[in-house]
Amino acid sequence: MNEHDSEKVAGVLLRRGYRQVASPDEARLVFYNTCSIREKAAQKVFSRLGEFNPRNNFGRESGKVIGVLGCVAQQEGEEIFERAPWVSLVCGSASYRELPLLLARLEAGENRVTGLDTDTDETFETELTRRDHPFRAYLTIIEGCDKACSYCVVPYTRGPERSRASESILREVRELADVGYTELQLLGQTVNSYRDPSNRHLSFSELLLGVAEVPGIRRVRFMTSHPHDMGKDIVDAIDASPALCDHIHLPVQSGSTRVLRAMQRTYAREEYLEKIGMIRGARKPISITTDFIVGFPGESEVEFEETLSLLDAAQFDGAFSFQYSPRPHTPAALMADPVPEREKQRRLQALQERQRAIQLQRHQSLMGQTFEALVDGASRREGQWTGRTSSNRVLNFTSSRTDLLGKYVRVRVTGAGPNSLTGEESIE
Ligand code: 5AD
Ligand code: SF4
Repeated sequence: MNEHDSEKVAGVLLRRGYRQVASPDEARLVFYNTCSIREKAAQKVFSRLGEFNPRNNFGRESGKVIGVLGCVAQQEGEEIFERAPWVSLVCGSASYRELPLLLARLEAGENRVTGLDTDTDETFETELTRRDHPFRAYLTIIEGCDKACSYCVVPYTRGPERSRASESILREVRELADVGYTELQLLGQTVNSYRDPSNRHLSFSELLLGVAEVPGIRRVRFMTSHPHDMGKDIVDAIDASPALCDHIHLPVQSGSTRVLRAMQRTYAREEYLEKIGMIRGARKPISITTDFIVGFPGESEVEFEETLSLLDAAQFDGAFSFQYSPRPHTPAALMADPVPEREKQRRLQALQERQRAIQLQRHQSLMGQTFEALVDGASRREGQWTGRTSSNRVLNFTSSRTDLLGKYVRVRVTGAGPNSLTGEESIE
């Protein structure tokens, strides 16, 4: 989501006549897009900004204008001017639609401009988006978040949930197809909570089907889904449309109902597993990936073991896992009974080891099968390519053909590791 925000901000700049340069050294204007989801990401910002300290011959004295965007900007606000006085712009992720205006003020010579409102019901739409990925186009369909997970800073930094009108989304999809994109990824913090604000009132699954029908579009992905809004209609849509990718990212966070309640995730362990059962009941095998947080305040050893047993029960195809990190403005930051750092580390490692074994086993079961890969990279070794299956698995393969970048190739799986598959082009 953040990367796509950068693509949109770059589009705004290009529209105003700015030009991309190769390095920050050459730039007159430098924007940092920032993330505050965990403490480490937020800390990085200030060390990076330090590199522009005028004492190092940077900053306003050198004619450079420095700006901070994103969730750290939203969270820290004018504090950033205090800690890094050489910064001229602070604009939070909920205020990007103000950017052209803020830029105009900077260009007119103002030294400190801010965009920090979150009370908006509008989305950030741009006339131009600079797309950095050659084969996959991202597009935001819903911004902000109305859930209230007790550990999460996103509702605070990105503001309330707002969906984009379906006509506007479909118009952008047609434009992307016209310029040659065949794969799209629809984005939102809770993408499946989408509610069409226009009088067409499309549901999320209807929107998916509408996007999949646009001529030229061969693959449609979406991320991230919240279990609470994961209805059967979405699975039915995936079953019905070959262009809807067989992959759902469905963060669970914990396998313990007690911890899930404390996290305010709005579902219990069993309810989550029922959703998994529903997805596994589809005609198409659908790959399921997830997110975990270990070491939430008060998480006991027994509760952590429930997370491990959920891994076995759910059989995820991939998982991102994180140590709990207290965030400002969140209820969990005030909770007692923190899990010690070393214990968080141990739990993270145990979880990752168990999941690795599961992934290896699941990948091994795919040996001999043939999948279609969209080729997105070439290895330095001749005849070696890399691509992604519809289920979003990395597939490294050999082919005697050249010029495969951006093409769809049928590949037979001949090898399996925990994080990727290997294979050879199948000539049938
Ligand atoms: N600490 C650790 N991980 C977090 N995430 C969100 N907030 C926190 C936090 N305070 C993780 C969740 C979410 C993913 C994007 O980041 O697992 O799904
Ligand atoms: Fe954060 Fe929960 Fe919203 Fe996801 S659903 S962005 S974890 S508050």
